[in-house]
Amino acid sequence: MNESITAIVPAAGVGSRMKADRPKQYLTLLGQTVLEHTVTKLLSHPLINQVVIAISDDDPYYSTLALANHDQIVRVSGGTERAGSVLSALNYVCQNSHSEWVLVHDAARPCFRLDDVSKLIDTATQHEVGAILASPVRDTMKRANDEQDIDHTVERVALWHALTPQMFRAEPLKHALSTAIQQSVTITDEASAFEWLGHNPALVAGRADNIKITQPEDLALAEFYLRRDEEMK
Ligand code: CTP
Ligand code: MG
Repeated sequence: MNESITAIVPAAGVGSRMKADRPKQYLTLLGQTVLEHTVTKLLSHPLINQVVIAISDDDPYYSTLALANHDQIVRVSGGTERAGSVLSALNYVCQNSHSEWVLVHDAARPCFRLDDVSKLIDTATQHEVGAILASPVRDTMKRANDEQDIDHTVERVALWHALTPQMFRAEPLKHALSTAIQQSVTITDEASAFEWLGHNPALVAGRADNIKITQPEDLALAEFYLRRDEEMK
């Protein structure tokens, strides 16, 4: 892979499960917002040369960050769902940037590692559809019935947690997401848009500490992982 890649960062969510005074991407860990940790690390990867961030039009926080004036960063309008935010960034990429590949990564996952990104890039670019980082499920999984009693145990062997980044060619991803959205299909990650079209993206085993900050208890853990990674530098 010798051509550069554009990263897309959906950051237009409100963080309702986090129950904080602001969207979780603007909470501060070790002196920087979650969004700054995520975007700065993406740009430090040698193959990523641009980041397109989807931000809500009524967001009062983004413009106060140094990211807003960075020449490798572009802001686009977020959508009401994550898929709409990613599509908005893809529209920008397909019109303005010559990047064949995009790497989509949640703003709320600041603890990813650059070597996992490299593994993902290697696999995706050799694959006919693309690839996602994922981690094998560890716990015994239960399917509930309507009373929230256990109906049965789900075989764990082939189950994975879908993480980000997820890497696909920009044009096919735009087609897959826009068609799915038009037909009101629920799309929670990029891979599911391709699955819906009958394709099979690759799973790349990634580190389980690439957590998505979702609930209040996740913040301390993310801070621990970020501090550990800074101390290792
Ligand atoms: N996201 C987005 N646009 C939306 C919704 C979500 O860009 N309309 C982004 C979030 O900012 C986050 C990522 O998608 O970086 C993953 O979404 P999630 O963890 O669900 O974040 P929120 O939607 O903000 O949180 P919640 O679901 O708890 O409200
Ligand atoms: Mg959400």
